[in-house]
Order: sequence, then C-alpha cells, then structure tokens
Amino acid sequence: MKKITIAIDGPAASGKSTVAKEVAKALDYIYIDSGAMYRALTLKALRSNIDVNDEEALVQMTKDANIIIKNQKIYLDDEDVSEAIRGLSVTNNVSTVCSYQGVREEMVNLQKKYGSAEGIIMDGRDIGTTVFPNAELKIFQTASAEVRAKRRYDENIKKGIKCNLEVLTKEIELRDFKDSTREISPLRKADDAILLDTSNLTLEEVVNTIVEMAKKLEKEG
Ligand code: DC
Repeated sequence: MKKITIAIDGPAASGKSTVAKEVAKALDYIYIDSGAMYRALTLKALRSNIDVNDEEALVQMTKDANIIIKNQKIYLDDEDVSEAIRGLSVTNNVSTVCSYQGVREEMVNLQKKYGSAEGIIMDGRDIGTTVFPNAELKIFQTASAEVRAKRRYDENIKKGIKCNLEVLTKEIELRDFKDSTREISPLRKADDAILLDTSNLTLEEVVNTIVEMAKKLEKEG
C-alpha cells in the first residue's frame, strides 16, 4: 500500500481544515494548512508596520521570514503564532498579502518541500492546480456562503467570540471574490478535482467519503 498526496481546495470557511485534520488522523498522514503560511506573513507585515499594499516590501519581508509548520503548529521566526494568525486584522488583510506573485512563489516552493514527505494532506486554494498538480486525490470542498457563515458563527460563539451572522456572510463573500478573481493562482477547481458540496453533509460524512477514496487509491498504488 502506498501513501498518497491529497489536495483539498475550496472557498473560505468551507471546513477544509477541520476535515483535513480528521482525514490526516484517520490515515496517519501529515496535515499542512497552507493558508496559515499566508496568515503568518500577514501577521509579520502588520507587526512590522509594513503597508500590505507595498508589494516590494512584502516580497522582501517574505524572503526574510522563517516559516515552519510542525505538528500542526505554525512558527514565524521561531515563535508559535498558531493562535495569533486567527485574529481579525490578519483575516481582513490576508487576501491582499497572498495576491502578490513574489509572495506566492516563496510559499509555493515551501509547500512543495513539505509535499516531498510520504502521506500528506494539504488544504488551501491552489493546491490541486499549482502546488501539487500531480496529487493522486484532489477535492474541491465547498458549501453555500450562508452555510459557511453559520458554521463560522457557531464556532466563534462556542469560543466566546462575539460576532454577527450578516457581517460574517459579507466578509466571507468578499474573501471569496478576492480569492477567485486575483490574477495569480486564483481559487479554482482543478479539472480533475472531485467537487464535494458539504452544505447538507455532516463532518463525519465528509471525512468518511474522503478517507474511503484515499484508501481505495492507496490499494491501487
Ligand atoms: O484558509 P484560510 O482562510 O486560512 O486562508 C487565508 C487566506 O490565504 C485566504 O484569503 C486565501 C489565501 N490562501 C491562498 O491564497 N492560497 C492558499 N493555498 C491558501 C490560502
């Protein structure tokens, strides 16, 4: 049996990382959250007072940054920033930071390096199209904007974070728009990706579907 590479792409808050973590656990694979890398860079820019519209400064900052993902934690210049990258200012600026070619090139190279390990599952926006075009299993996971906003809302409430469902829906729609209309590596379903609309599926159903597909491919490999 051969461990495979799994790419999960899809719009904001479609539950990719929750699903990917569970699939990784079930298959004993390494999970890499590529969005966390762009978030860590955004955090570095905000902390260093670098204007997110200053492409040149951001590309240079990216070259100087040390980003490491280990045991599902992300380290920026040796500091664990796994919590800090989830803040609102990072979320609202990350779409701009990740739109620059020089920034993406650096991150895609890093992501490809992680992909050289056996048995990897990575989620993002361009994993099936750009990072791992040869991945054995590609999933494009989506759900309606309303369902995604409601899931994010429930998650926040559970964590004690106050939020407004309407505002969340608008933020998600704006991020979808920015991510799918940017020039470089826009959010797009790879031609050979399997579309998985999770609007009416439970987490368990989504995880089981992907695990079964992966196991079948492992056997065939
Ligand atoms: O998945 P997320 O919300 O943590 O991603 C944060 C941002 O990073 C999102 O606006 C899209 C971007 N992103 C990207 O452009 N390419 C990826 N492979 C992963 C994320």
